[in-house]
Amino acid sequence: MSKKIKKIINKKNKSKIICLTAYSKNVAEAIDPYTDIILIGDSLGSVLYNYTTTRSVTLHTMIEHSKSARQGIKNSLMVVDMPYKTYNNKSEALRNAKKIIKQTKCDAVKLEGGSSISKVIEHLVKNKIPVMGHLGILPQSVKGKFKSKGKEPRERKKILNDAKLLQKKGVFSIVLECVETTLAKEITKILKIPTIGIGSSQHCDGQILVIDDLIGLNETKIKFVKKFGNIKKNIRHAVYKYKKEVLSKKYPTKKHSY
Ligand code: KIV
Repeated sequence: MSKKIKKIINKKNKSKIICLTAYSKNVAEAIDPYTDIILIGDSLGSVLYNYTTTRSVTLHTMIEHSKSARQGIKNSLMVVDMPYKTYNNKSEALRNAKKIIKQTKCDAVKLEGGSSISKVIEHLVKNKIPVMGHLGILPQSVKGKFKSKGKEPRERKKILNDAKLLQKKGVFSIVLECVETTLAKEITKILKIPTIGIGSSQHCDGQILVIDDLIGLNETKIKFVKKFGNIKKNIRHAVYKYKKEVLSKKYPTKKHSY
């Protein structure tokens, strides 16, 4: 296990783990001083490309964005999402995970699912690929509307058992997406590895959000999103000033010309 991953695990019960997504160098560079983990999430499909589902995101797209983000990440652990249909079986998963790590120099990969992919995860871990798990809402499997998870007893039991199984198979952390509060609390208490919540309450060991949502660049009404800034407003203001100065011939001056 790498020192960086040990450091993340050691934060459990001591300090909350700060995670965000980034899809490019400039954004990664801006957030890296404050984050423990930067995820190159396949959420880029909906956030950047306006796809209706993350299923349309390809391995090539994930690798290109990750290569860009890598250049801005110095301190944080860099995790890359394995996109839909790139980990259908053990050999395919290992081949693609190795490709992602080799080309992007990331520290770990993230896969969505529980018992159905536990053998794949075990195979990756045995082959020294650090893996982050993802339970609760699994965007790659959802058709239609997203619904929170873990309210019904059968579903609760399944998520809890999946969390224990993934820990046994060697994941170093698990993202819990929209998991009911008391279940997220129970899973976090039982597991030795950290849980990273998104819409899964303050009881998780860490939190993750999509950066574009947090800074107000992506318009969304999702319940778990809190807008901590309004970058869209800042961009509009800067562009308004630029337009005004170009129209009035105030910009460019001699200073900006060759
Ligand atoms: O794709 C993504 O950005 C994610 C996080 C929201 C957890 O999986």
